[in-house]
Amino acid sequence: MPSPRNKTLHITPEDAPELAALCAVPEGPLDEAAVENRVLCGDFFDLAPRMAEGLFDLVVADPPYNLTKDFGGEAFKKTDADSYEAFTERWVTEVRRLMKPGASLYVCCDWESSLIVGSVLQRHFTVRNRITWQREKGRGAKRNWKNAMEDIWFCTLGDGYRFHLDAVKVRKKVLAPYRENGEAKDWQETADGRYRLTCPSNFWDDITVPFWSMAENTAHPTQKPEKLYAKLVLASSDENDLILDPFGGSGTAAAVAKKLGRRFTVVEKNRQYCVWALDRLRRAETDKTVQGMKDGVFLPRNEY
Ligand SMILES: C[S@@+](CC[C@H](N)C(=O)[O-])C[C@H]1O[C@@H](n2cnc3c(N)ncnc32)[C@H](O)[C@@H]1O
Repeated sequence: MPSPRNKTLHITPEDAPELAALCAVPEGPLDEAAVENRVLCGDFFDLAPRMAEGLFDLVVADPPYNLTKDFGGEAFKKTDADSYEAFTERWVTEVRRLMKPGASLYVCCDWESSLIVGSVLQRHFTVRNRITWQREKGRGAKRNWKNAMEDIWFCTLGDGYRFHLDAVKVRKKVLAPYRENGEAKDWQETADGRYRLTCPSNFWDDITVPFWSMAENTAHPTQKPEKLYAKLVLASSDENDLILDPFGGSGTAAAVAKKLGRRFTVVEKNRQYCVWALDRLRRAETDKTVQGMKDGVFLPRNEY
């Protein structure tokens, strides 16, 4: 019997046929009107060629890593480096065609896939940074170091990209509360203590993986935290922009886009996951909270 505090989403397409019906892919060309604010149940390699060129302002991609992993009954099998490179080259080429000239792309990967993903991205984009996320949770290894980090590559098509620094500042406890003429220097006294808003670095240690007592949690095996995607979306898009997630999983990108006033297109080939995404979107109509974010500021790890 799961704990009453366990909020993990398990809903099936049979439980919610009205949601399952919503993820059907429309007939004909997939122009802006056909894809905006949609979760499309299909294979990205089939749907991308049907989509109009230059549709998206931002792409957040979390492709299967080069690991054997069961995604709802369909396994992605670990393969050799050349085959994973060919897979990456194929989806990156499709994504590039779908991006507007000023658009940005973020790609998630583990350290091993990252060796390949980074070099493919360099062939197509200006690679601006590699964020390291200390996800921490993960299986211990007996003959190796435990895998506790992931990479997120930040790429743009050119120099005309957006980066909203003020929207992604990080709240940090002040250890040395300097004063100037008796006034606090760059920090604020709040009911919770003394804090400073700092520029975010490319090392992110303030985000946990979703766990069972969090409202955003689903049974997806590799779900990303909403707090992580909120940073990407706020830094690299404006309100009403159209965001693509080509490997949508449980719909984290869609839920975050909706909560933050952006439009979205999610492609996911597993129907069960599409239904989870649509259920999260239904809840996001009234609940705009992103756990770990308060009053537009990102809180330290495990602070809500
Ligand atoms: C790493 S997971 C994404 C998890 C997602 N970011 C989330 O927060 O839930 C990758 C997803 O891509 C889906 N997928 C794999 N190949 C696909 C393809 N060719 N087209 C569409 N979806 C695909 C898998 O079913 C899986 O759910």
